[in-house]
Amino acid sequence: MQISNYKTQQEKIVCTTVMPTRMTPGMLEDIRESLLRKPRSLSPKYFYDQRGSSLFDQICSTPEYYPTRTENKLLSRHAVDIINKTTPDQILELGSGYSTKTRLLFDACQQTTNECIYVPLDVCEEVLVEVSKRLSEEYDWLVVNPLLGDYHAGLGNLPASHGSHLFVFLGSTIGNFEQEDALDFIKEVHKTMCYGDHLLIGVDRVKDNDVLHDAYNDAQGMTAEFNLNILHVLNRELNADFNIDMFTHSATFNAYKERIEMRLISRANQHVNINDLNESIQFNLGDDILTEVSQKYTYKGIEEMLKQADFTITEHYEDENAYFSLILVSK
Ligand code: SAH
Ligand code: TRP
Repeated sequence: MQISNYKTQQEKIVCTTVMPTRMTPGMLEDIRESLLRKPRSLSPKYFYDQRGSSLFDQICSTPEYYPTRTENKLLSRHAVDIINKTTPDQILELGSGYSTKTRLLFDACQQTTNECIYVPLDVCEEVLVEVSKRLSEEYDWLVVNPLLGDYHAGLGNLPASHGSHLFVFLGSTIGNFEQEDALDFIKEVHKTMCYGDHLLIGVDRVKDNDVLHDAYNDAQGMTAEFNLNILHVLNRELNADFNIDMFTHSATFNAYKERIEMRLISRANQHVNINDLNESIQFNLGDDILTEVSQKYTYKGIEEMLKQADFTITEHYEDENAYFSLILVSK
């Protein structure tokens, strides 16, 4: 593209660590609080080591996992409109992963000659660095400034910058927050933004049970692998001795709460040692660990939440089947 040449200044990708705004428990404390108490749970952020990130990417291309395909379709259709409406100087993405869908926004920037900086934020450093390098090479005009950080620890220390910002939060990652936390988080994003900035958020919708069930129980077993990967992470990081084969993946739709609940279920009575915690856990056959929720929203429900956070809705894009919403809001 014929846009300016300030890119030549970016010789090397440097990943900046975002300092937490508030105290969050370290991994030891976090796991002690969540795994040693009943009901047992684990924070989904521990899914995403390098292997977990790559497994997630593979889930995204399974035939059953419609959210990625649908969101991708919405972005292909509307990316130019989104860029025209927001004219960002900076695109800041929360939980960017492989930034695959975000490329459609870069393509739209290219088409509309809207020069901007890309700031991906993620907890997985390996993927951040790899993806930032690749994007920076492939889009010769794009300056990429990756941020390593945990969005649960607060957004107050994101580096300040001038100009207009387009915040991007895709993949229905907002659905992975408990509902009260989701609203608080959206409010925090609002607080972080300047007047005139926009947020583009991708949200999965309530739909037929079977479609939902299959999306989280793919036939190839990628989702099961991904879910079980969290036990590999605990074995490595906390010196635990989970026998992965003795747990099984479960994902069911809770119709009352309108959310998928992902669990790991013990296949036997067993003892697991968490050596770094000096603790052991007794699991009985059928005992479970909640590893992730994936809240599904209605058209109205998601708009309500965004309005409660004081956002103004600019556009609400959805597909023909109303499977997925892509919502552009402004502060
Ligand atoms: N945006 C991508 C990836 C979604 S998966 C997509 O739409 O396909 C969720 C992403 O959020 C992963 O890349 C994961 O590493 C990241 N993530 C999970 N918890 C996080 C946290 N607490 N802070 C920052 N990033 C997080
Ligand atoms: N944001 C994704 C979703 O809620 C995360 C996700 C997809 C996921 N498949 C998963 C998380 C399987 C854990 C396990 O759809």
